[in-house]
Amino acid sequence: MNSLPHKHLLGLEDYGADEILKILDTAESMREILARPIRKVPTLRGVTVVNLFFESSTRTRISFELAEKRLSADTVNFSSTGSSLSKGETLLDTARNIEAMKIDIVVIRHRAAGAPHFLAHYLEAVIVNAGDGCHEHPTQALLDVLTLRQKFGSVKGLRVTIVGDIAHSRVALSNIYALKKLGASVAICGPATLIPRDVTSLGVEVIYSIDDAIAKSDVLNVLRLQLERQEAGLFPTLREYQKYFGVTRRRLEKAQRPLTILHPGPINRGIEITSDVADSEHSLILDQVTNGVAVRMAVLYLLSGAKQ
Ligand code: CP
Repeated sequence: MNSLPHKHLLGLEDYGADEILKILDTAESMREILARPIRKVPTLRGVTVVNLFFESSTRTRISFELAEKRLSADTVNFSSTGSSLSKGETLLDTARNIEAMKIDIVVIRHRAAGAPHFLAHYLEAVIVNAGDGCHEHPTQALLDVLTLRQKFGSVKGLRVTIVGDIAHSRVALSNIYALKKLGASVAICGPATLIPRDVTSLGVEVIYSIDDAIAKSDVLNVLRLQLERQEAGLFPTLREYQKYFGVTRRRLEKAQRPLTILHPGPINRGIEITSDVADSEHSLILDQVTNGVAVRMAVLYLLSGAKQ
C-alpha cells in the first residue's frame, strides 16, 4: 500500500523501522524523478499544502516547497512576519482560519515543542512537523539516514556520534530514534552542560571527549551550537567550545581512517566545525540537502494517500 499507518508525521518516536524504511525506499523513487529532465509528476495534483513557518529556515522551507511543486501540489507559504500574529491572533486561530480555506496538509515549524501535536489535535488536516523547538525534526533525521544508507548500503551496525549541543537540538532526538530503530550504534558527545540528563534511557552512549568520539565512530553528525536557545553560562566562551569540542582536520587525522561528516546546517564555520572539514571529500553536507527534497516528497506522498 502506498501509505503509512499514521495520519501525521509529528516525530519519529512512534514510527517503526518498517515505516522509516518505507519512507527511505519511496525517497529513492523520488530521487529518480528529480534526476529526470522534467522534474515534475502529477501525483499531488488537487492537494493543497500550507507551509506554516513561525521560525527561520532556509533548507527545510525551500525543500518542502520544492517537494510540493515537484509533486504538483498547490502550495501556500505563511511566515509569521507580516501575518496577523502581530495583531495578537493565536496559533490555533491562525491555523483554523487557514484550514477554513480548504487545506489538506499543514507543514509546521515552530519554536514551541509540541506545536505540531497541538494542531493535530484540533485540525482535520494532515500535520507534518518541520521542527518543533528542542523536540523533534523528523524529516531532517530521515534525510540524514537516507544519506548514510546511500554511502554505506545500510545503517545497521554503523557507529554514529552526534556531536555538540544535544540539549537544544531537535535533530539529535529524531536522529537517535531513526538510527536506533535501524540498528545503528549511537553515541552523543558534548560538554556536560549541553547533554540532557536522562539521555542514556534512549540507549545511547555519552562521550565527553571529542577525541574519544572520533576514535570510536564511523560517522560524526556535527550539530550547530544553538546560541539563540541557550541560557548564558553553559560553556565559558565560543573559543573554549571550539578548542575542546570543535571538529577539526587535525583531530580527525589522528583516527588514521576517514570519518564521514554530516551537519544539518546552518553551519557556524570555525566553531563546531572547521571549513576544511565541512568542505572535505568526506563531508556529505550537500548530499543531505539534496536528499531533503526527495525525503519530503516521499513523506508528503505517503501521508496524502495519493496513488503514484
Ligand atoms: N537543517 C535545518 O533545519 O535547516 P533550516 O533551519 O535552514 O531549515
